[in-house]
Amino acid sequence: MAVNDVLEIIRKKRDGGRLTADDMDVLVRGAADGSIPDYQLATWLMAAYLRSLDYEETTHLARAMAASGAMLDLSPIPGPKVDKHSTGGVGDKVSLVVLPLVAACGVTVAKMSGRGLGHTGGTVDKLESIPGMRVEMNVEEFLSCVRVAGIAIAGQSSSLVPADKKLYSLREVTATVDSIPLIASSIMSKKIAAGTDGVVLDVKVGRGAFMRELDSARQLARLMVRIGEACGLATVAVLSNMDQPLGYRVGNALEVREAIEVLAGRGPHDVVELTYRLGSEMLILAGLAQDRKEARRSLHRALTRGHGLEKLAQMIRTQGGDPHVVEEPALLPRAPVIRPLVAAADGYVREVDARLVGWACVLLGAGRRKRGAAVDPAVGIELRKKVGDAVKAGEPLACIHARTAETASRAARLLEKAYRVLDRPGPCPPVVLEMVSPNA
Ligand code: URA
Repeated sequence: MAVNDVLEIIRKKRDGGRLTADDMDVLVRGAADGSIPDYQLATWLMAAYLRSLDYEETTHLARAMAASGAMLDLSPIPGPKVDKHSTGGVGDKVSLVVLPLVAACGVTVAKMSGRGLGHTGGTVDKLESIPGMRVEMNVEEFLSCVRVAGIAIAGQSSSLVPADKKLYSLREVTATVDSIPLIASSIMSKKIAAGTDGVVLDVKVGRGAFMRELDSARQLARLMVRIGEACGLATVAVLSNMDQPLGYRVGNALEVREAIEVLAGRGPHDVVELTYRLGSEMLILAGLAQDRKEARRSLHRALTRGHGLEKLAQMIRTQGGDPHVVEEPALLPRAPVIRPLVAAADGYVREVDARLVGWACVLLGAGRRKRGAAVDPAVGIELRKKVGDAVKAGEPLACIHARTAETASRAARLLEKAYRVLDRPGPCPPVVLEMVSPNA
């Protein structure tokens, strides 16, 4: 590739020009094969960050990135294939619940998922807390699990979307992660390459989310839905609240335990509600329900009859894990130190800052600060009180599950700041805020 091509592309974006599909192909190919040096890619990223990309440029970028590596062909596997993606939250174990549930209703689920980074957790880290569970596998092994169980969840294959890997790692060190077009193209390129017929996006909004404001979450959701449609991937997005953690448990094994409880019919209201909402959209995209009412009925039936839990056990067994955890969650790893955080005064919980709870979990070892670092499956935080709850002085607000007394104390100091308890009750925001569909 001529050096001047890249220089010209950088110059065009620097000066606020619009890039073509060919320009994006040149950039993405050079990122994937290593022929464009990091300093030019980083410069281009900063130009794209400052000048932004319009819808067409973002779609060209997503499409070029999706084509930068292998693309999964799921067509030989029977059944409608629908994927689900969350932009990342705290206590977000919904994939572990909704995917087995929709699989029990007839959706084929082939999900590749990321690991956690920073204050947000990752689905494959959670699954790895199950004894024996394999989440790192090649594409053939992954597809074979999908064929056997109708569902598999594994780590993102390095053969898919190599350009995103390269560009994302440069974005992390050049302060260019939080650009809506770059996020949208990065997420959608992976969804396009994953080969499903449709995808339901859960775009988180609030303190613990990438997108703190409803407006920017809406922009991101609309852009991703349009890219999906342009690339032949039926896409809808649900905007959901991430001011406080989802459910009561945050941390790898703790979240698997809560996911099992939801599938056993004993889940907290917010997790159940979001599961039904995302699951309904998945069933509709799959053509297995006409409308939300019918979809909800199917999901409810699968949940109350235990079919979702059976499907989870089947997936765990197929991926080498111990399926007995679904009946005996005590088989999951447990932390040696459990320490309560108690309320200093009577009152009502007005805030549980999801970001601070997430960072307290990182401090305990449940999450990672750097890509590639190990996580502790056993540790985390169990909330006892959430927004809207009344509390008495001395009552536990939360329980910290730690490896040592010292890390428990450090996490407690951070967790204390996450809670705001006032003498009057306040509003309790809904978990589902809005829907974005192609015609909205
Ligand atoms: N998640 C992704 O996959 N890509 C981004 O750019 C941000 C979040």
